[in-house]
Amino acid sequence: MYQAPRGTVDILPQEQAYWRYVEQKAAHICQLYGYERIDTPAIEDAGLFNRSVGEGTDIVDKEMYTFDDRGGNKLALAPEGTASVCRAYLEHGMQNLPQPVKLYYISSMFRYERPQAGRYRQHRQFGCEAIGSDDAALDAEVIDTAWQFYLSMNISQLFLALNSIGCKECRPVYLNALREHYVQHGDKICVDCNVRLVKNRMRLLDCKKPSCQPVADTAPKSVDYLCQPCAEHFDKLQRYLGLLGIPFGVNHRLVRGFDYYTRTVFEVQPQGGGSQGSLGGGGRYDGLIEELGGKPTAAVGFGLGIDRIILQLKEQKIDVSPLAKPRVFVAFLGDAARDEAIKLAASLRRNGIGVIQAIGSRSLKAQLRQANSLAISRAVIIGEEELKAGTVILRDMTSASQQTVPIARLPELLK
Ligand code: HAM
Repeated sequence: MYQAPRGTVDILPQEQAYWRYVEQKAAHICQLYGYERIDTPAIEDAGLFNRSVGEGTDIVDKEMYTFDDRGGNKLALAPEGTASVCRAYLEHGMQNLPQPVKLYYISSMFRYERPQAGRYRQHRQFGCEAIGSDDAALDAEVIDTAWQFYLSMNISQLFLALNSIGCKECRPVYLNALREHYVQHGDKICVDCNVRLVKNRMRLLDCKKPSCQPVADTAPKSVDYLCQPCAEHFDKLQRYLGLLGIPFGVNHRLVRGFDYYTRTVFEVQPQGGGSQGSLGGGGRYDGLIEELGGKPTAAVGFGLGIDRIILQLKEQKIDVSPLAKPRVFVAFLGDAARDEAIKLAASLRRNGIGVIQAIGSRSLKAQLRQANSLAISRAVIIGEEELKAGTVILRDMTSASQQTVPIARLPELLK
């Protein structure tokens, strides 16, 4: 027997109401903030992610699904959405549109991670990207979009962590200070951090190993090394978030795992941690479009993990509206009545009434049992007698009361 690949899940019918709920809230919030939907392919040139997410990051070095297709092209399953949206922005000349261009997506992402609760090898994200402005008001608006999205789903007890990691001017100075600090404490840090010290210094602050915590906690802070424009940008952002009434805390150790980030980074986390880690994250990526061959173009966005959001909805016992199901069951007694049942079910559906039609040759009793187990409220029964008289029996499945009605009146009665 085959099973779904490790780290992937089937989203079964009983789960779908949660998915529709989240997707509808996402579409609504995007309409409020002026984002238009974009769908990019699940596969991209692997080079796109090497270039943007960055070689030396866990996602590219350890987690990306890459393969050669039959034509010899090196492709990757998208591990994230930002690079694809920027590729599409350039490919379709969106730099000629009024800026910022605001796009959103709901897509599957693929990462070869160690599966655990809330961490999968295929997960789904709702992402927003606002491309074409470096105004801190746009960062604030992007964060507000994410925050209002969680509120619109009634999710509470969230924490917004914020940081600024500077730009290509001020970051090198900060990274030097970070190296000095870690070199001084070289004997106390883990093997991975020794590798990060050479390969990806920003990620030193991300280390979860207990032995590295004192070193990371006392490390220099990026905000103390920001150049004047970055410092002003970060001040403005915090002021705007205040205006919008969004609570946040500056977390000096928040760096996030992508090379493309500049200035603002943020994450939304369940208060008190929780097993699943962050519910969403994002930031500014002012150098990415240029890195991909475009003109210098500032941008900011986020990606929110829908699988984890749904775990939160369940944990917080938030009701989502059930999906509409057919309310009518058409049953029959005898072969001649079956023909009429087929026609009747079709005609009700053409009148916009959802119908489950009895299939096979079960007894009438068994058909009604099926209607009951589907929690259907009305059954329409056709037998030989009704056939001759041009009537049907309409049965209320809850009270078991029945009435005989002319077949022609049925759509109107059921509506
Ligand atoms: P990310 O933080 O890697 O950012 O992913 C965004 C969110 O996706 C995470 O906060 C988490 O909720 C969810 N997520 C990530 N990995 C998994 C996983 N293995 N299983 C379940 N959920 C997961 C990005 O991908 C950036 N592209 C976000 C962004 C957009 N930054 C700017 N624009």
